Amino acid sequence: MIRITPRLDDARYTRLFHIGAKHQWTVEDVDWTIPDGLDLRGREALARLLTPVFLGERAALLGGAQALLMLGAETESAQLYMPSFLMDEARHIETITRLYELLGFSPMRIKEMPEMLQYHHRMRMGKTPLHWVMGILVSDIFARTLYGAFARTKGSFLFGRISADIVVDEGRHQAFAEHYLSDRLPTAAPELRQEIFSVKEDLLRIVARMGVTLKDDASALGFPAQDLFSAFSDEVQARSRHVGLRCGACAAEASPGTRAALPASCQGCFVTKTLAALTASASAPPTA
Ligand SMILES: [Fe+2]
Ligand SMILES: [Fe+2]
Repeated sequence: MIRITPRLDDARYTRLFHIGAKHQWTVEDVDWTIPDGLDLRGREALARLLTPVFLGERAALLGGAQALLMLGAETESAQLYMPSFLMDEARHIETITRLYELLGFSPMRIKEMPEMLQYHHRMRMGKTPLHWVMGILVSDIFARTLYGAFARTKGSFLFGRISADIVVDEGRHQAFAEHYLSDRLPTAAPELRQEIFSVKEDLLRIVARMGVTLKDDASALGFPAQDLFSAFSDEVQARSRHVGLRCGACAAEASPGTRAALPASCQGCFVTKTLAALTASASAPPTA
């Protein structure tokens, strides 16, 4: 149902809309003459490492269009924020498409890393806005981890500069997701909370498998895969605790930093364990 006068009473969402609306840019504002600072292997590695994030940008645009209707029915203030989210994702998509043309390498294909499809299938399985927003929180943190690493360490090169702009948008998306989840999770039915918890754990597990596939590419770009993917996993768990999503089984929830003591059932810890095994096998002497 639509009303003539909307109730724009949630200043957190309208403020995020104002910030986004005032900080607009497009592919035409990027200085494409800045050197990329990469050799041939570096370009290939960037094309591969960026692929799941690029697909995530496209999925966020399409999912966001549907979420505008769902979220807008709940919170009219969110109706203002969502178009700014869609605008952000549209410019990320156009910019990264141009970047791929310059790199001279294509994104990975789904069959090279089927986890990309599994990830987006898992995100689409949920039927409520809470499911979608939880998936967006994980996706935004994944994107922000990658863009943030480039912005911090390669800020004088082309993709570092682009990342510095995109990461601001992703931070705003994360803020929206955290506001929304903090509001809705405390009053959600226990079964729904458990489902949202499962969305988070499943997405973490899928990203951990992507980390194994992409470890050589991350290393080629100067980012040890364990550092990159552990930072992502740690932040997802920290922000999930922040919005009140706790499984109640993990020692780390009571005292962060005790990962080694976590139960095998905790999929979030699966990320850490997978990456630890990966590092161990990388440093083991060849057997043949
Ligand atoms: Fe994005
Ligand atoms: Fe985003």
